[in-house]
Amino acid sequence: MCWKSVLERVRAGRLPDHVAVVMDGNGRWAKARRLSRVEGHRRGAEAAERLIRLAAGERVCRHLTLFAFSTENWDRPPEEVDFLLRLLEEFIAQKVDELAAAGVRLDVLGERERFPERLSAEVSRVEELTRRNEGLQVHVALSFGGRWAVVEAVRSAVRAAQERGLQAERVDEDVVHGLMPTAALPDVDLMIRTAGEQRLSNFLLWEAAYAELYFTPVLWPDFDEAAFLEAVVSYQGRQRSFGGVRP
Ligand code: IPE
Ligand code: IPE
Ligand code: MG
Repeated sequence: MCWKSVLERVRAGRLPDHVAVVMDGNGRWAKARRLSRVEGHRRGAEAAERLIRLAAGERVCRHLTLFAFSTENWDRPPEEVDFLLRLLEEFIAQKVDELAAAGVRLDVLGERERFPERLSAEVSRVEELTRRNEGLQVHVALSFGGRWAVVEAVRSAVRAAQERGLQAERVDEDVVHGLMPTAALPDVDLMIRTAGEQRLSNFLLWEAAYAELYFTPVLWPDFDEAAFLEAVVSYQGRQRSFGGVRP
């Protein structure tokens, strides 16, 4: 396969620990083919599966966070929202055994109280089933917003102050991160966004503070192994100094 040669290049360099992806462009992909948006989302789910397989099988990174549905996406037409939630539920239900066998650990980040009951049950099932797996950790951001995560942390901090006397002076970055619903995520090394838009759209705001950003015009359903590995090659060419002096 043609991406195998790019994989060799990737292997020769420093691998990212955490890759986060804004999977954008399903609608435009479908429109260009005179298909319904729904068909674009279906093909988008296949692209996500392809990426998980590659990242898990070739051990490209330890954490992969996929932006599947944002807190703002609830404002889309109800038929599209329903379809997306059902597609996510089906995806989780149908792929769980294969993913679990590949050593993948899967969890979901987002406002669970807004999930339909069946989706919620499926999410709990897959999280429990893969909890002890030590391969790729896939985090699906679903009804997720970076601001929601910050608000959750502030709520937890207020509760901790009231219930166990957390002092303002003791609150530092580690404490805040520990109180966020994303506490299990390390900082993002590489943030990819497809479909040409160059914005975060309220994704991982806290964790992306020092992420290397990679934007590609490729629409999400077309984002294949080679496209992902090219993003990693681009990451490997970046100088990261984190505010320090370049070596
Ligand atoms: C990304 O594709 C999927 C979700 C946001 C759920 P879009 O549906 O945003 O596709 P475009 O941006 O309309 O092309
Ligand atoms: C971001 O894409 C959210 C997901 C990929 C799930 P959107 O298509 O919703 O973002 P905007 O509207 O272009 O900012
Ligand atoms: Mg979009």
